[in-house]
Amino acid sequence: MLDRRRLNVGKELQPCFYIATFGCQMNMRDSEVLSGLLNRAGFTLTNKPEKADIIIFNTCSVRQHAEDRVFSLIGEYKKRQKKKMPGTVPIIGLIGCMAKNYQDKIFNKAPDVDFVVGPSDIAKIPEIIERLLASKKKEPSLFQLKIWETDGEARPEEIYHTGFYEDKKHAYLVISEGCSNFCSYCVVPYVRGPLRHRHYKDILAEIEEAIDKGVSEITLLGQNVNAYQYEGVNFVGLVELVNSVKGLKEFGFMTSHPKDASSDLFKAISGLDKLKKSLHLPIQSGSDRILKLMNRGYSKRFYLDLVDNYRKIVGGGTLTTDIIIGFPSESEADFKETYNLVKDVGFNSAYIFKYSLRPHTEAVKMPDDVTKKEKEGRHALILELQRSISERKRC
Ligand code: 5AD
Ligand code: SF4
Repeated sequence: MLDRRRLNVGKELQPCFYIATFGCQMNMRDSEVLSGLLNRAGFTLTNKPEKADIIIFNTCSVRQHAEDRVFSLIGEYKKRQKKKMPGTVPIIGLIGCMAKNYQDKIFNKAPDVDFVVGPSDIAKIPEIIERLLASKKKEPSLFQLKIWETDGEARPEEIYHTGFYEDKKHAYLVISEGCSNFCSYCVVPYVRGPLRHRHYKDILAEIEEAIDKGVSEITLLGQNVNAYQYEGVNFVGLVELVNSVKGLKEFGFMTSHPKDASSDLFKAISGLDKLKKSLHLPIQSGSDRILKLMNRGYSKRFYLDLVDNYRKIVGGGTLTTDIIIGFPSESEADFKETYNLVKDVGFNSAYIFKYSLRPHTEAVKMPDDVTKKEKEGRHALILELQRSISERKRC
Protein backbone atom coordinates (compact mmCIF):
# COMPACT_ATOMS: atom_id res chain seq x y z
CA MET A 1 0.00 0.00 0.00
CA LEU A 2 1.17 3.51 -0.73
CA ASP A 3 2.46 5.27 2.34
CA ARG A 4 0.72 8.54 1.70
CA ARG A 5 2.31 10.25 4.68
CA ARG A 6 5.82 9.40 3.67
CA LEU A 7 5.22 10.52 0.15
CA ASN A 8 3.43 13.55 1.50
CA VAL A 9 3.34 15.02 -2.00
CA GLY A 10 1.54 14.69 -5.29
CA LYS A 11 -1.75 16.21 -6.41
CA GLU A 12 -3.12 12.79 -7.27
CA LEU A 13 -3.07 11.98 -3.53
CA GLN A 14 -4.99 15.13 -2.66
CA PRO A 15 -2.59 16.72 -0.18
CA CYS A 16 -4.44 18.12 2.79
CA PHE A 17 -4.05 21.53 4.39
CA TYR A 18 -4.72 23.04 7.78
CA ILE A 19 -5.16 26.76 8.42
CA ALA A 20 -4.56 28.33 11.84
CA THR A 21 -6.24 31.74 11.89
CA PHE A 22 -5.28 34.63 14.18
CA GLY A 23 -6.81 38.07 14.62
CA CYS A 24 -9.94 39.69 13.27
CA GLN A 25 -13.00 38.64 11.25
CA MET A 26 -11.24 39.86 8.11
CA ASN A 27 -8.64 37.14 8.66
CA MET A 28 -11.35 34.57 9.30
CA ARG A 29 -12.88 35.46 5.95
CA ASP A 30 -9.46 35.39 4.26
CA SER A 31 -8.94 31.86 5.58
CA GLU A 32 -12.27 30.82 4.05
CA VAL A 33 -11.32 32.47 0.78
CA LEU A 34 -8.05 30.55 0.79
CA SER A 35 -9.79 27.28 1.69
CA GLY A 36 -12.07 27.80 -1.31
CA LEU A 37 -9.11 28.46 -3.62
CA LEU A 38 -7.19 25.43 -2.34
CA ASN A 39 -10.24 23.14 -2.59
CA ARG A 40 -10.68 24.27 -6.15
CA ALA A 41 -7.01 23.42 -6.84
CA GLY A 42 -7.53 19.87 -5.53
CA PHE A 43 -6.37 20.14 -1.90
CA THR A 44 -8.43 18.90 1.04
CA LEU A 45 -9.08 20.84 4.24
CA THR A 46 -8.30 19.04 7.51
CA ASN A 47 -8.87 20.16 11.09
CA LYS A 48 -5.92 18.08 12.32
CA PRO A 49 -2.64 20.01 12.02
CA GLU A 50 -0.57 16.92 12.86
CA LYS A 51 -1.94 15.18 9.77
CA ALA A 52 -1.64 18.05 7.32
CA ASP A 53 0.74 18.11 4.36
CA ILE A 54 0.53 21.88 4.39
CA ILE A 55 0.12 24.03 7.51
CA ILE A 56 -0.75 27.67 6.94
CA PHE A 57 -0.65 30.37 9.61
CA ASN A 58 -2.94 33.26 8.70
CA THR A 59 -1.46 35.90 10.96
CA CYS A 60 -2.25 39.18 12.70
CA SER A 61 0.19 42.04 13.39
CA VAL A 62 -2.12 44.38 15.29
CA ARG A 63 -0.43 43.57 18.61
CA GLN A 64 2.97 42.07 19.43
CA HIS A 65 1.40 39.33 21.51
CA ALA A 66 -0.38 37.85 18.45
CA GLU A 67 2.90 37.73 16.53
CA ASP A 68 4.77 36.06 19.39
CA ARG A 69 2.14 33.32 19.59
CA VAL A 70 2.56 32.49 15.91
CA PHE A 71 6.34 32.18 16.19
CA SER A 72 6.02 29.79 19.12
CA LEU A 73 3.24 27.74 17.47
CA ILE A 74 5.19 27.16 14.25
CA GLY A 75 7.77 25.11 16.12
CA GLU A 76 5.12 23.42 18.25
CA TYR A 77 3.03 22.20 15.29
CA LYS A 78 6.13 20.84 13.59
CA LYS A 79 7.13 18.98 16.74
CA ARG A 80 3.64 17.54 17.12
CA GLN A 81 3.68 16.22 13.58
CA LYS A 82 7.15 14.70 14.03
CA LYS A 83 5.88 12.84 17.09
CA LYS A 84 2.59 11.64 15.60
CA MET A 85 3.77 11.05 12.03
CA PRO A 86 7.50 10.27 12.17
CA GLY A 87 9.33 10.86 8.92
CA THR A 88 6.91 13.42 7.53
CA VAL A 89 7.62 17.10 7.19
CA PRO A 90 4.79 19.53 6.39
CA ILE A 91 5.12 22.49 4.10
CA ILE A 92 4.65 25.55 6.29
CA GLY A 93 3.22 28.85 5.08
CA LEU A 94 2.91 32.13 6.88
CA ILE A 95 0.39 34.49 5.32
CA GLY A 96 -1.53 37.66 6.22
CA CYS A 97 -0.38 40.74 8.09
CA MET A 98 2.84 39.33 9.59
CA ALA A 99 3.92 38.25 6.10
CA LYS A 100 3.74 41.83 4.91
CA ASN A 101 5.23 43.16 8.14
CA TYR A 102 8.37 40.95 8.04
CA GLN A 103 8.49 39.79 4.37
CA ASP A 104 11.48 37.49 3.71
CA LYS A 105 12.90 38.21 7.18
CA ILE A 106 10.40 35.59 8.38
CA PHE A 107 12.76 32.92 7.03
CA ASN A 108 15.45 34.05 9.49
CA LYS A 109 13.05 34.32 12.41
CA ALA A 110 11.29 31.02 11.63
CA PRO A 111 13.49 28.79 9.42
CA ASP A 112 10.76 26.11 9.22
CA VAL A 113 8.58 28.41 7.13
CA ASP A 114 8.61 27.56 3.39
CA PHE A 115 6.43 30.31 1.97
CA VAL A 116 5.41 33.82 2.98
CA VAL A 117 2.45 35.53 1.30
CA GLY A 118 1.00 38.97 2.08
CA PRO A 119 -2.72 39.86 2.28
CA SER A 120 -2.88 41.18 -1.29
CA ASP A 121 -1.21 38.11 -2.81
CA ILE A 122 -3.58 35.46 -1.47
CA ALA A 123 -4.64 34.35 -4.98
CA LYS A 124 -1.11 33.14 -5.69
CA ILE A 125 -1.02 30.59 -2.86
CA PRO A 126 -2.30 27.46 -4.70
CA GLU A 127 0.36 27.88 -7.39
CA ILE A 128 3.08 28.54 -4.79
CA ILE A 129 2.14 25.33 -2.96
CA GLU A 130 2.20 23.36 -6.24
CA ARG A 131 5.73 24.65 -6.87
CA LEU A 132 6.87 23.71 -3.38
CA LEU A 133 5.32 20.24 -3.59
CA ALA A 134 6.93 19.63 -6.97
CA SER A 135 10.31 20.69 -5.63
CA LYS A 136 9.88 18.53 -2.54
CA LYS A 137 8.92 15.52 -4.67
CA LYS A 138 12.02 15.92 -6.81
CA GLU A 139 14.52 16.14 -3.96
CA PRO A 140 12.83 15.33 -0.64
CA SER A 141 16.05 15.29 1.37
CA LEU A 142 17.42 18.52 -0.14
CA PHE A 143 14.13 20.36 -0.08
CA GLN A 144 14.89 23.97 0.76
CA LEU A 145 12.98 26.13 -1.67
CA LYS A 146 11.66 29.32 -0.07
CA ILE A 147 9.05 31.47 -1.78
CA TRP A 148 7.68 34.85 -0.76
CA GLU A 149 5.14 37.16 -2.39
CA THR A 150 4.32 40.26 -0.42
CA ASP A 151 4.16 43.17 -2.86
CA GLY A 152 0.78 42.67 -4.53
CA GLU A 153 -1.45 45.71 -4.70
CA ALA A 154 -4.90 44.30 -5.41
CA ARG A 155 -6.83 41.09 -5.05
CA PRO A 156 -8.63 39.64 -8.05
CA GLU A 157 -12.41 39.74 -7.56
CA GLU A 158 -12.72 36.00 -8.43
CA ILE A 159 -11.22 34.92 -5.11
CA TYR A 160 -14.45 35.89 -3.35
CA HIS A 161 -16.57 33.61 -5.47
CA THR A 162 -15.53 30.04 -4.60
CA GLY A 163 -18.64 29.61 -2.45
CA PHE A 164 -16.69 28.40 0.59
CA TYR A 165 -18.22 29.48 3.92
CA GLU A 166 -17.24 27.79 7.17
CA ASP A 167 -20.61 28.38 8.81
CA LYS A 168 -23.68 27.04 7.04
CA LYS A 169 -25.97 29.89 8.11
CA HIS A 170 -23.81 32.97 8.55
CA ALA A 171 -21.20 34.45 6.18
CA TYR A 172 -18.64 37.24 6.51
CA LEU A 173 -18.48 39.37 3.41
CA VAL A 174 -15.64 41.75 2.59
CA ILE A 175 -16.84 45.09 1.18
CA SER A 176 -13.56 46.94 1.33
CA GLU A 177 -9.90 46.05 1.82
CA GLY A 178 -7.13 47.99 3.53
CA CYS A 179 -7.35 51.29 5.40
CA SER A 180 -6.17 54.85 4.74
CA ASN A 181 -6.87 56.33 8.16
CA PHE A 182 -3.38 55.98 9.64
CA CYS A 183 -4.35 56.01 13.31
CA SER A 184 -0.95 56.57 14.84
CA TYR A 185 -0.81 53.26 16.75
CA CYS A 186 -2.10 51.01 13.96
CA VAL A 187 -0.13 48.83 11.58
CA VAL A 188 -3.11 47.96 9.34
CA PRO A 189 -2.59 50.65 6.63
CA TYR A 190 1.01 49.43 6.26
CA VAL A 191 0.27 45.71 6.08
CA ARG A 192 -3.10 45.73 4.30
CA GLY A 193 -2.48 48.72 2.05
CA PRO A 194 -4.74 51.68 1.21
CA LEU A 195 -8.54 51.50 1.33
CA ARG A 196 -10.06 49.87 -1.78
CA HIS A 197 -13.76 49.16 -2.29
CA ARG A 198 -15.32 46.22 -4.08
CA HIS A 199 -17.95 47.01 -6.69
CA TYR A 200 -21.41 46.87 -5.11
CA LYS A 201 -22.56 44.61 -7.93
CA ASP A 202 -19.84 42.09 -7.01
CA ILE A 203 -20.81 42.32 -3.34
CA LEU A 204 -24.47 41.70 -4.17
CA ALA A 205 -23.52 38.82 -6.48
CA GLU A 206 -21.51 37.22 -3.67
CA ILE A 207 -24.43 37.61 -1.26
CA GLU A 208 -26.70 35.84 -3.73
CA GLU A 209 -24.15 33.05 -4.14
CA ALA A 210 -23.96 32.66 -0.36
CA ILE A 211 -27.75 32.51 -0.13
CA ASP A 212 -27.75 29.78 -2.80
CA LYS A 213 -25.44 27.84 -0.47
CA GLY A 214 -27.96 28.13 2.38
CA VAL A 215 -26.59 31.22 4.15
CA SER A 216 -29.27 33.52 5.57
CA GLU A 217 -27.27 35.95 7.74
CA ILE A 218 -24.26 38.04 6.76
CA THR A 219 -21.81 40.50 8.27
CA LEU A 220 -20.34 43.12 5.93
CA LEU A 221 -16.66 43.62 6.72
CA GLY A 222 -14.21 46.47 6.29
CA GLN A 223 -11.77 48.42 8.49
CA ASN A 224 -13.98 51.47 8.05
CA VAL A 225 -17.22 50.43 6.37
CA ASN A 226 -18.71 53.94 6.61
CA ALA A 227 -16.18 55.19 4.08
CA TYR A 228 -17.60 52.81 1.43
CA GLN A 229 -17.98 54.52 -1.92
CA TYR A 230 -18.31 52.97 -5.37
CA GLU A 231 -19.66 54.77 -8.44
CA GLY A 232 -21.96 57.01 -6.43
CA VAL A 233 -23.10 54.32 -4.01
CA ASN A 234 -22.08 55.12 -0.43
CA PHE A 235 -22.41 52.88 2.61
CA VAL A 236 -26.02 53.85 3.27
CA GLY A 237 -26.80 53.11 -0.39
CA LEU A 238 -25.05 49.76 -0.08
CA VAL A 239 -26.99 48.65 3.02
CA GLU A 240 -30.24 49.63 1.28
CA LEU A 241 -29.27 47.44 -1.67
CA VAL A 242 -28.27 44.55 0.62
CA ASN A 243 -31.53 44.86 2.54
CA SER A 244 -33.46 44.20 -0.66
CA VAL A 245 -31.67 40.92 -1.50
CA LYS A 246 -34.24 38.12 -1.59
CA GLY A 247 -33.59 35.21 0.76
CA LEU A 248 -31.43 37.24 3.15
CA LYS A 249 -32.87 37.24 6.67
CA GLU A 250 -30.51 39.43 8.67
CA PHE A 251 -27.28 41.36 8.27
CA GLY A 252 -24.87 43.54 10.19
CA PHE A 253 -21.56 45.31 9.57
CA MET A 254 -18.24 46.17 11.16
CA THR A 255 -16.19 48.27 11.83
CA SER A 256 -17.47 51.86 11.91
CA HIS A 257 -15.16 54.83 12.33
CA PRO A 258 -16.80 57.64 14.36
CA LYS A 259 -15.55 60.33 11.98
CA ASP A 260 -17.52 58.76 9.10
CA ALA A 261 -20.65 57.57 10.94
CA SER A 262 -23.72 59.72 10.28
CA SER A 263 -27.38 60.22 11.13
CA ASP A 264 -28.22 58.81 7.68
CA LEU A 265 -26.59 55.55 8.72
CA PHE A 266 -28.51 55.49 12.02
CA LYS A 267 -31.75 56.11 10.12
CA ALA A 268 -30.90 53.17 7.88
CA ILE A 269 -30.23 50.97 10.94
CA SER A 270 -33.55 52.06 12.36
CA GLY A 271 -35.55 51.74 9.14
CA LEU A 272 -34.20 48.70 7.28
CA ASP A 273 -35.98 45.58 8.46
CA LYS A 274 -33.08 43.13 7.94
CA LEU A 275 -30.31 45.32 9.35
CA LYS A 276 -29.32 44.45 12.92
CA LYS A 277 -29.87 47.18 15.49
CA SER A 278 -26.28 47.22 16.64
CA LEU A 279 -23.21 49.39 16.17
CA HIS A 280 -19.54 48.71 16.86
CA LEU A 281 -18.02 52.18 17.25
CA PRO A 282 -14.43 52.17 18.57
CA ILE A 283 -13.68 55.15 20.82
CA GLN A 284 -10.06 54.10 21.68
CA SER A 285 -9.65 56.79 24.39
CA GLY A 286 -11.79 59.23 26.35
CA SER A 287 -9.05 61.86 26.49
CA ASP A 288 -9.02 64.54 23.76
CA ARG A 289 -5.27 64.90 24.12
CA ILE A 290 -4.72 61.18 23.50
CA LEU A 291 -7.32 61.05 20.69
CA LYS A 292 -5.35 63.79 18.95
CA LEU A 293 -2.07 61.92 19.39
CA MET A 294 -3.82 58.83 18.05
CA ASN A 295 -4.87 60.79 14.94
CA ARG A 296 -8.45 59.64 15.33
CA GLY A 297 -10.00 62.78 13.83
CA TYR A 298 -12.72 63.36 16.46
CA SER A 299 -13.11 64.62 20.02
CA LYS A 300 -14.79 63.05 23.04
CA ARG A 301 -17.70 65.53 22.65
CA PHE A 302 -18.17 64.55 18.99
CA TYR A 303 -18.25 60.88 19.97
CA LEU A 304 -20.74 61.42 22.80
CA ASP A 305 -23.05 63.43 20.51
CA LEU A 306 -22.86 60.63 17.95
CA VAL A 307 -23.85 58.09 20.59
CA ASP A 308 -26.79 60.28 21.71
CA ASN A 309 -27.89 60.58 18.13
CA TYR A 310 -27.60 56.84 17.55
CA ARG A 311 -29.62 56.04 20.65
CA LYS A 312 -32.27 58.62 19.80
CA ILE A 313 -32.69 57.33 16.24
CA VAL A 314 -32.17 53.61 16.91
CA GLY A 315 -34.07 53.12 20.15
CA GLY A 316 -32.90 49.95 21.86
CA GLY A 317 -29.91 49.48 19.55
CA THR A 318 -26.80 47.92 21.10
CA LEU A 319 -23.44 49.69 21.20
CA THR A 320 -19.96 48.16 21.50
CA THR A 321 -16.49 49.65 21.33
CA ASP A 322 -12.69 49.18 21.32
CA ILE A 323 -10.39 50.88 23.83
CA ILE A 324 -6.61 51.12 24.03
CA ILE A 325 -5.07 51.50 27.49
CA GLY A 326 -1.57 52.90 27.99
CA PHE A 327 -0.98 54.79 24.74
CA PRO A 328 2.33 56.74 24.99
CA SER A 329 2.13 59.57 27.54
CA GLU A 330 -1.29 58.46 28.87
CA SER A 331 -1.49 59.99 32.38
CA GLU A 332 -3.71 58.97 35.29
CA ALA A 333 -5.95 61.92 34.34
CA ASP A 334 -6.20 60.74 30.70
CA PHE A 335 -7.06 57.26 31.89
CA LYS A 336 -9.74 58.63 34.27
CA GLU A 337 -11.38 60.32 31.28
CA THR A 338 -11.57 56.97 29.48
CA TYR A 339 -12.81 55.27 32.63
CA ASN A 340 -15.54 57.88 33.14
CA LEU A 341 -16.56 57.75 29.50
CA VAL A 342 -17.01 53.97 29.73
CA LYS A 343 -19.08 54.47 32.88
CA ASP A 344 -21.21 57.24 31.34
CA VAL A 345 -21.84 55.68 27.93
CA GLY A 346 -22.66 52.19 29.18
CA PHE A 347 -21.48 50.05 26.26
CA ASN A 348 -23.05 46.62 25.88
CA SER A 349 -19.53 45.28 25.57
CA ALA A 350 -16.03 46.55 24.93
CA TYR A 351 -12.74 45.11 23.70
CA ILE A 352 -10.02 46.55 25.88
CA PHE A 353 -6.43 46.33 24.66
CA LYS A 354 -3.09 47.24 26.18
CA TYR A 355 -1.11 49.48 23.84
CA SER A 356 1.42 47.54 21.82
CA LEU A 357 4.19 49.35 19.98
CA ARG A 358 4.03 48.55 16.24
CA PRO A 359 6.68 49.00 13.57
CA HIS A 360 6.11 51.55 10.77
CA THR A 361 3.51 53.51 12.78
CA GLU A 362 3.77 57.16 13.86
CA ALA A 363 3.41 56.20 17.53
CA VAL A 364 6.63 54.20 17.34
CA LYS A 365 8.40 57.58 17.47
CA MET A 366 6.84 58.29 20.90
CA PRO A 367 8.35 56.65 23.98
CA ASP A 368 6.30 53.66 25.19
CA ASP A 369 6.40 55.25 28.64
CA VAL A 370 3.37 53.81 30.44
CA THR A 371 4.90 51.00 32.46
CA LYS A 372 3.73 47.41 32.13
CA LYS A 373 2.44 47.55 35.69
CA GLU A 374 0.44 50.73 35.00
CA LYS A 375 -0.99 49.26 31.80
CA GLU A 376 -2.01 46.10 33.64
CA GLY A 377 -3.58 48.04 36.50
CA ARG A 378 -5.58 50.33 34.21
CA HIS A 379 -6.57 47.42 31.98
CA ALA A 380 -7.89 45.46 34.98
CA LEU A 381 -9.84 48.45 36.31
CA ILE A 382 -11.61 49.19 33.07
CA LEU A 383 -12.23 45.52 32.37
CA GLU A 384 -13.91 45.13 35.74
CA LEU A 385 -16.01 48.24 35.16
CA GLN A 386 -17.12 47.05 31.73
CA ARG A 387 -17.83 43.56 33.07
CA SER A 388 -20.30 44.95 35.58
CA ILE A 389 -21.92 47.21 32.95
CA SER A 390 -22.24 44.33 30.45
CA GLU A 391 -23.77 42.16 33.15
CA ARG A 392 -26.29 44.86 34.06
CA LYS A 393 -27.19 45.43 30.40
CA ARG A 394 -27.72 41.75 29.78
CA CYS A 395 -30.45 41.45 32.41
N1 5AD B 1 -1.99 48.33 20.39
C1 5AD B 1 -3.12 47.94 21.02
N2 5AD B 1 -4.31 47.83 20.41
C2 5AD B 1 -4.37 48.14 19.10
N3 5AD B 1 -5.40 48.14 18.23
C3 5AD B 1 -4.93 48.49 17.02
N4 5AD B 1 -3.61 48.74 17.09
C4 5AD B 1 -3.24 48.54 18.38
C5 5AD B 1 -2.00 48.64 19.07
N5 5AD B 1 -0.89 49.04 18.46
C6 5AD B 1 -6.78 47.82 18.61
C7 5AD B 1 -7.72 49.01 18.36
C8 5AD B 1 -8.52 48.54 17.18
C9 5AD B 1 -8.55 47.04 17.42
C10 5AD B 1 -8.91 46.22 16.24
O1 5AD B 1 -7.25 46.75 17.84
O2 5AD B 1 -8.55 49.18 19.49
O3 5AD B 1 -9.79 49.11 17.12
FE1 SF4 C 1 -6.23 50.83 12.15
FE2 SF4 C 1 -7.43 53.20 12.47
FE3 SF4 C 1 -7.62 51.87 10.12
FE4 SF4 C 1 -8.91 50.93 12.29
S1 SF4 C 1 -9.30 52.92 11.26
S2 SF4 C 1 -7.66 49.74 10.82
S3 SF4 C 1 -7.49 51.47 13.94
S4 SF4 C 1 -5.74 52.73 11.01
